[in-house]
This record gives sequence, structure tokens and C-alpha cells, in this order.
Amino acid sequence: MPIAEELLKNILKVPNTETHLVISRGSERVLQSECHSGTEILTRYAHKTYDAKDMSAAPASGAWQNAGMIICPCSMSSLASIASGAGMNLIHRSADVTLKERRPLIIAPRETPLNLIHLRNMQLVTEAGATIMPFAPAFYNNTTSFKDMMQYFSGRMLDQLHIEHNLCLRWGDDIH
Ligand SMILES: Cc1cc2nc3c(=O)[nH]c(=O)nc-3n(C[C@H](O)[C@H](O)[C@H](O)COP(=O)(O)O)c2cc1C
Repeated sequence: MPIAEELLKNILKVPNTETHLVISRGSERVLQSECHSGTEILTRYAHKTYDAKDMSAAPASGAWQNAGMIICPCSMSSLASIASGAGMNLIHRSADVTLKERRPLIIAPRETPLNLIHLRNMQLVTEAGATIMPFAPAFYNNTTSFKDMMQYFSGRMLDQLHIEHNLCLRWGDDIH
């Protein structure tokens, strides 16, 4: 959840970019445990927020244009729903739409270790076009804090959406 907060905060720094946020009921509970806060800790950085139960919201339709979708963090429950195409809430439906429209779908899974069901679901969504992107800090870029790691990871996720940003030092730039 702190990574979701950092990601939203960092996207705000990117010019000409709007963030549309969908919050699940499950994530509200996890937010309480991990950020000791309600959803306002995330919604304050988003241009628009939707309830995951609202299946008539804009992201439920392929006609709504966007650069792609990041699910951060993605529970194994949501991963399973997306892999099965069940579309039980707005997050799963939007992921399904993102795949059918051939737009980038970035899934930051939140689980360790992984069982065979998790791995098979990751394989299924990858075959359908998604990118599985677990949080994996780089240590070659003089990272000294967890905040640096989260900012770097945010930048790498935006790379996947082909959004230009200035969030991370890159291998080959100033680092060697
Ligand atoms: C504090 C806390 C931590 C959790 N951590 C995980 C986790 O790391 N991975 C996971 O798949 N589910 C985890 N869960 C369970 C999910 O929140 C639960 O399956 C939820 O129904 C997922 O719904 P969602 O995907 O719609 O957010 C956690 C729950 C709580 C309360």
C-alpha cells in the first residue's frame, strides 16, 4: 500500500497525465493495517476515484481511452479473477477491457512465496498480454532508502505504459 501511495504521488509529477483510481473493498482493509489511514491517503493524488462495485464507470468500457492500467498491489484473489475472466468488480472488468483493447496491463503481484495456482494465473494473464511486475528494488543506483526504491519502481512501471518521466536514474546514465 505504501507503494501505491508513492506511485500515485509520483504520477502527479508527470505533466499531462491523469490518474483514474479504482479502490477495492479488500484494499481499504489493507490500507488501515499498512498506512493506518483511510482511502484519502490515495484519493488525494488521483484525478478521479471509482468504487470497485461501480461497473458502469468509464474504465469498464473499451471506448474510454487511456494509456493502460496498473494494478498495485494485486492480490492473488484479483489475479485469479482476471485470469478467469470472471470480471467480478470494476478492477477485474477494467483489466479484462485493457487486455481486449491490447493496452498495457501492469500487475504488481503481492504474495510470497508463490504456489502453483498463483504461478499458473500469472502465466495465463501473461499469455493474454499482461506484464507481471513484482516489486524488485535495484541496488546499483545508489539507493539508500525505501522511498528511493519505491520512486524507482514507480518510474519502471510508467516505462511500461510508455509515459515519459524523470523519476529514476537509469543504468547507462550516471551510474556504472
Ligand atoms: C493486512 C492484510 C494483508 C493481506 N495481504 C495479502 C497479500 O499479500 N496477498 C494477497 O493475495 N492477499 C492478501 N490479503 C487478502 C486480500 O486482501 C483479500 O484476498 C481480498 O479479498 C482481496 O481483494 P481485492 O483483490 O479485491 O483487493 C491481505 C489481507 C489483509 C487484511
